[in-house]
Amino acid sequence: MIAPDLPAELKAALDAKLQGLSRNAAAERASLISQTYRDGGGSGAIRSEADALAYALARMPATYAAVTASLNALREIVSDFAPKSLLDIGAGPGTATWAAAEAFSSLQSFTLVDANSALRALALDLVGGSPRLRDMTYQRGEARAALADAEAADLVVASYMIGETSDAEQRALTALMWEKTRDTLLIVEPGTTAGYGRIIALREQLIALGAHAAAPCPHDGKCPLTAPDWCHFTQRLPRSRAHKQLKSAELPYEDEKFSYVALTRAPVAQHPARVLAQPVVTKVEVTAKLCAPDGLVIAKLPRRARADYARARRWRWGSAVMEEG
Ligand SMILES: C[S@@+](CC[C@H](N)C(=O)[O-])C[C@H]1O[C@@H](n2cnc3c(N)ncnc32)[C@H](O)[C@@H]1O
Repeated sequence: MIAPDLPAELKAALDAKLQGLSRNAAAERASLISQTYRDGGGSGAIRSEADALAYALARMPATYAAVTASLNALREIVSDFAPKSLLDIGAGPGTATWAAAEAFSSLQSFTLVDANSALRALALDLVGGSPRLRDMTYQRGEARAALADAEAADLVVASYMIGETSDAEQRALTALMWEKTRDTLLIVEPGTTAGYGRIIALREQLIALGAHAAAPCPHDGKCPLTAPDWCHFTQRLPRSRAHKQLKSAELPYEDEKFSYVALTRAPVAQHPARVLAQPVVTKVEVTAKLCAPDGLVIAKLPRRARADYARARRWRWGSAVMEEG
């Protein structure tokens, strides 16, 4: 399992960029960028070096935590997956690349693609001191055009990116990303109903093309959740002092909600159920909402079934579990 907080090398590189930067100015920019996101806009508002840094300070820890949680879930299902090459689409400051590098020591080649010059410049700056990542290839350009010429990779990731494109673009991009996936494609989106909606649409599209769901889904069938319910998870991450200042936040942590799907070329061997919400533990029983291979289950594990009860007490929202406990 990899930790949800940024690797030391990346933290140090971000801290170095912070030297000499006015925290108030950064907070102002970060809040403007966040407002653009809330209003449905994308990263188009990130134009300067200072914008890119404000975005990285405000959002990179949370998107990194969401990607690490998704990669941890994937690794639990396909423990022998050892990708050599990575394609990071809509890579921004390089968040998913850093997470994948932590998760897979097997990775040797890193290719990133993004249309935003300011974020690309920051990403290249941040890896300057990393012997492993400093030789990565970072192509600036529209994802579809760049992908058309890209070599296929063992692992393809698009983190918090799909939502910035139109519905038609999402379908075309999804098909192209799959074409460039030798083994596994991971898509991560905000854990909103809209983010889940995009995940579920592309999951269906890719399964129709022969993909198999590895995580979080324990099957390739239709998602059993119906509105207003939606599949999402949450990852707690520590808040740095700079982040607290930037966000005028008091709590030493934040909880990032995210939706994701990891799809593989080969069917996965094991299909544990997925815990879809934080289980309720009482002295009498543990009640857990599970997505199981044959549909949605509300599992009740009574205290009298001591071993099952004890095991279920350790279940967490997002865990992969054997249904019988
Ligand atoms: C919200 S940021 C996420 C960045 C990074 N993946 C992360 O998780 O922190 C979305 C990124 O997708 C890029 N992007 C959006 N649409 C794109 C497109 N059509 N082609 C290339 N990049 C795109 C943006 O420039 C931006 O860097």
